[in-house]
Amino acid sequence: MGRNLWAIMYVTVMILMIIQVVESSLHRVGGGRYTWNSDVNYSDWSNNQTFYSGDWLYFGFDRKIHNILQVNKSSYEKCIDTDFIFNITRGGRDVFQLVQPKPYYFICGRGFCLKGMKLAVNVLPQPPRSTPTSPITPASTAISLIHSNAFTVAILTLAFKVLYFD
Ligand SMILES: *[C@@H]1O[C@H](CO)[C@@H](O)[C@H](O)[C@H]1NC(C)=O
Ligand SMILES: *[C@@H]1O[C@H](CO)[C@@H](O)[C@H](O)[C@H]1NC(C)=O
Ligand SMILES: *[C@@H]1O[C@H](CO)[C@@H](O)[C@H](O)[C@H]1NC(C)=O
Repeated sequence: MGRNLWAIMYVTVMILMIIQVVESSLHRVGGGRYTWNSDVNYSDWSNNQTFYSGDWLYFGFDRKIHNILQVNKSSYEKCIDTDFIFNITRGGRDVFQLVQPKPYYFICGRGFCLKGMKLAVNVLPQPPRSTPTSPITPASTAISLIHSNAFTVAILTLAFKVLYFD
């Protein structure tokens, strides 16, 4: 009985946390289901979004065909996929957190960058919260307790597996 109650509370907190993370700050790159492909104009997409530090990018793609690499500005401009900064490619439903207020650059290797699969996002500092009225909620408590990126990536990946499993 008591154990069941804890299990329900635990699951509720996890769901609230996932909803908060997903709603507040997750950008589905390019939109659509397979968000990372050569049919999207990513500069148009990125120009219509506002990115704040702490926001997440979601890339959905077929990892047998595409990959996703964080690179520096010159590698972005010249489509150089060697000596990248970070390889985001995992299962094809992958997330990346924009931690700092600065420009970030991403490309698809294997020649796709030259076909337009490149993304630049300019990340702004986190604005002050516009709704400071709510007291401590379970979700915000859970989020403030979790500083591990790896854990958050795991939770988001799990959430997407659940949401988009077919
Ligand atoms: C960007 O990375 C490339 C390697 O891919 C390196 O040669 C170059 O010096 C770097 N440029 C800057 C501005 O850091
Ligand atoms: C990126 O990581 C994935 C998964 O770990 C791996 O399969 C792939 O070879 C890596 N890509 C590069 C360019 O290192
Ligand atoms: C994306 O669209 C803009 C105009 O909105 C254009 O200048 C740019 O060349 C396009 N990029 C690609 C990769 O097609």
